[in-house]
Amino acid sequence: MTHTTYAERGTLADLTAYRAEESARAGSGPRAAHDLSSNELALPPLPSVLAGVQSELPRLGRYPDPTARELTEAVAGHLRVAPDQVAVGPGSAGVLQQILLALCGPGDEVVYAWPGFDAYPLLVAVAGATSVTVPLTGSGHHDLDALAARVTGRTKVVILCSPHNPTGTVIERERLHAFLRSLPEHVVTVLDEAYVEFERCGDPPGLPDVLRPAGRTVVLRTFSKAYGLAGLRVGYAAGPREVMATVRKTAIPFGVTRLAEHAAILSLGNGAELRGRLASVAAARSELALRLRELGLPVLPSQANFLWLPIPSHAASFGRAAAAAGVRVRAVQGQGVRVSVGAPEAHDMLLAALGQWARGMRF
Ligand SMILES: Cc1ncc(COP(=O)(O)O)c(C=O)c1O
Repeated sequence: MTHTTYAERGTLADLTAYRAEESARAGSGPRAAHDLSSNELALPPLPSVLAGVQSELPRLGRYPDPTARELTEAVAGHLRVAPDQVAVGPGSAGVLQQILLALCGPGDEVVYAWPGFDAYPLLVAVAGATSVTVPLTGSGHHDLDALAARVTGRTKVVILCSPHNPTGTVIERERLHAFLRSLPEHVVTVLDEAYVEFERCGDPPGLPDVLRPAGRTVVLRTFSKAYGLAGLRVGYAAGPREVMATVRKTAIPFGVTRLAEHAAILSLGNGAELRGRLASVAAARSELALRLRELGLPVLPSQANFLWLPIPSHAASFGRAAAAAGVRVRAVQGQGVRVSVGAPEAHDMLLAALGQWARGMRF
């Protein structure tokens, strides 16, 4: 037997691979009938996108365009910025990894609110940097004053998320503007807008005004959520030229596949179809929130395609009751439960199970 010694990067020592425990558990138990744990869209891709990607299938033996030029130009056109202000990648998680690898290293700090998107700690550690987390307020909002107070000479990046995962809360634009203006010159802010289309009930062209004057802000978006392309892995960032130039250097070669590029371009051209779907998600979200509240459960108002229930001591038990009924949710003991807006039958199954579970309980 050969004996190999190797050194793992120190920042990875306390982490497991992304959702490794979850996939081990899933292998041993029954498969859930409905998955409301990953904030996916409960609808198939837009019909025009599904039809359009068929034309790319015969070319799968060829590498995609390494620069994803057509998608980069389409995104730039949509945002009304120059193509060199855009970087595309394999999901917005992939683009965020590029950003952190490009801007951070050992000894550097990345500040963000917590609880937050559970890939942030891992991606920061992959870059060799250190996470500095700041608790959300009681209402599930970013505590911008507390975040600003944690920014030091070591801070390279601040990540903000609006609408926020997992609470669905939005950072008010005036406050965001003031926060961005208050940061020192050496800090780049990443505004993660993975769910912004749900908040706006569409994806209107142009960059939000708040981002234009703030020279060190990068906006991060995805085709995984509102556009329903999570399985294809494609997202983008837009920001200052110099930042985007360095972010493109850390990309995995050919990271955006041919199908993903084509589907994303087609998606951007389908604003009307998108708006129709987002309206149906908003209606389903309101109905689900109402029915959960009728069971006595606290539900935060959400601008995204999920709901957050701040029930720290009942989260695990909620998750078990849902799983027993065949519905997966994201339960984080000590924090709460996140439920994605899904198909009507998934909501009915979940609510039927919770009706039993919640009887006699106080939250
Ligand atoms: C806040 C947030 N940002 C980014 C992502 C990454 O999405 P993707 O890599 O599919 O674009 C997610 C996914 O759940 C998310 O919740």
